[in-house]
Amino acid sequence: MPFVKDFKPIALKDTNLFKPIKIGNNELKHRAVLPPLTRMRAHHPGNVPNKEWAVEYYDQRSKREGTMLITEGVFPSPQAGGYDNAPGVWSEEQLAEWKKIFAKVHENKSFIWPQLWVLGRQSYADTLARDGLRYDSASDEVYMSAEQEALAKKSNNPQHGLTKDEIKQYIKEYVQAAKNVIGVGADGVEIHSANGYLLNQFLDPISNKRTDEYGGSIENRARFTLEVVDAVVEAIGHERVGIRFSPYGTFGTMSGASDPSLIAQYAYVVGELEKRAREGKRLAYIHLVEPRVTDPFLTEGEGEYLDGTNDFVYSIWKGPIIRAGNLALHPEAVKEMVEDDRTLIGYGRYFISNPDIVDRVEKGLPLNKYDRDTFYAMTPKGYLDYPTYDEAIKMGWDKN
Ligand SMILES: Cc1cc2nc3c(=O)[nH]c(=O)nc-3n(C[C@H](O)[C@H](O)[C@H](O)COP(=O)(O)O)c2cc1C
Repeated sequence: MPFVKDFKPIALKDTNLFKPIKIGNNELKHRAVLPPLTRMRAHHPGNVPNKEWAVEYYDQRSKREGTMLITEGVFPSPQAGGYDNAPGVWSEEQLAEWKKIFAKVHENKSFIWPQLWVLGRQSYADTLARDGLRYDSASDEVYMSAEQEALAKKSNNPQHGLTKDEIKQYIKEYVQAAKNVIGVGADGVEIHSANGYLLNQFLDPISNKRTDEYGGSIENRARFTLEVVDAVVEAIGHERVGIRFSPYGTFGTMSGASDPSLIAQYAYVVGELEKRAREGKRLAYIHLVEPRVTDPFLTEGEGEYLDGTNDFVYSIWKGPIIRAGNLALHPEAVKEMVEDDRTLIGYGRYFISNPDIVDRVEKGLPLNKYDRDTFYAMTPKGYLDYPTYDEAIKMGWDKN
């Protein structure tokens, strides 16, 4: 894998990106963050983090002291999942592995926040049926695609709109999951309310057709997300909770910018979080996926939405904000974003291929290319074998 061509790095060492910041109880030494990246290398059955490779993967990415890592999405329960090779946090076997990962990151004097992830209709109806589980979403049979509809019908597991009791059950599972990971050493948790997964399916009227108090209005569509926030905050403390949104995202066939009223939905939720903050319960951060990336499975630049920004969040929310989306290749955009004193930057795909990306953006060094074919693959290749800059030079990558 050679370096990325036609990319002019800029050293960001003299910007606020390299100024310390406190997130929750963690004193970060800089503001370049590993955002959540699912890698599909957990063991099946059991959804156990990879016993051979996962510690080393997180070790490599936390070597730079004072780095904040958000883990790949983790399932609070079997019902929340349906991807065989993504990890969970409900069993002792899973938690024993997470404990080792968290300890390694702490040995490096860095910090780690698991992302709590419930798939809803982005799961696979047949895998869920195999395990006797429901294919859940906000509403009955509002499928995200014809393929998902065919799969659900074939496996006799049609898309199911949650009952209020089932919503309550999920909230309990978020709480238990948060306690479980804190119990084995995590620094906090990130609630995943982005990218078309279950909480996002409730926020967006394209998938939420409910007529009860969880649908039909901005307030109602926000209810599930806010109930999860309140319950998790109550259980582990506001300073240990962050949340992720993707207001312009179209991944999972969400509306994104095609629905101009959606920004009002997000302004409302963020406003509710700021109200809680003013009452003494400020979340550790809000994490935003930028409109630069509406679907992370497209190449950088494809699918970007240039007519909107996340700036509205700054008018409402007065705490720390993490921004992610095609920023590794755009240090000039990062330079502007970090001019204020509360912005952190998530580097996703290029943190996969550059375990030392923090040093590289600091010094303005070239970046290793990534190999998309190994993003999701049950192999250490494309997981553990990306070199640091010095190693890459020794391997002649600069000459490729
Ligand atoms: C392989 C892969 C896995 C991802 N997994 C997650 C995930 O588990 N949770 C999440 O919120 N976002 C996930 N994302 C989105 C990234 O966190 C990030 O928002 C996106 O890749 C844009 O940032 P980038 O351009 O720096 O990669 C994933 C993206 C990729 C490419």
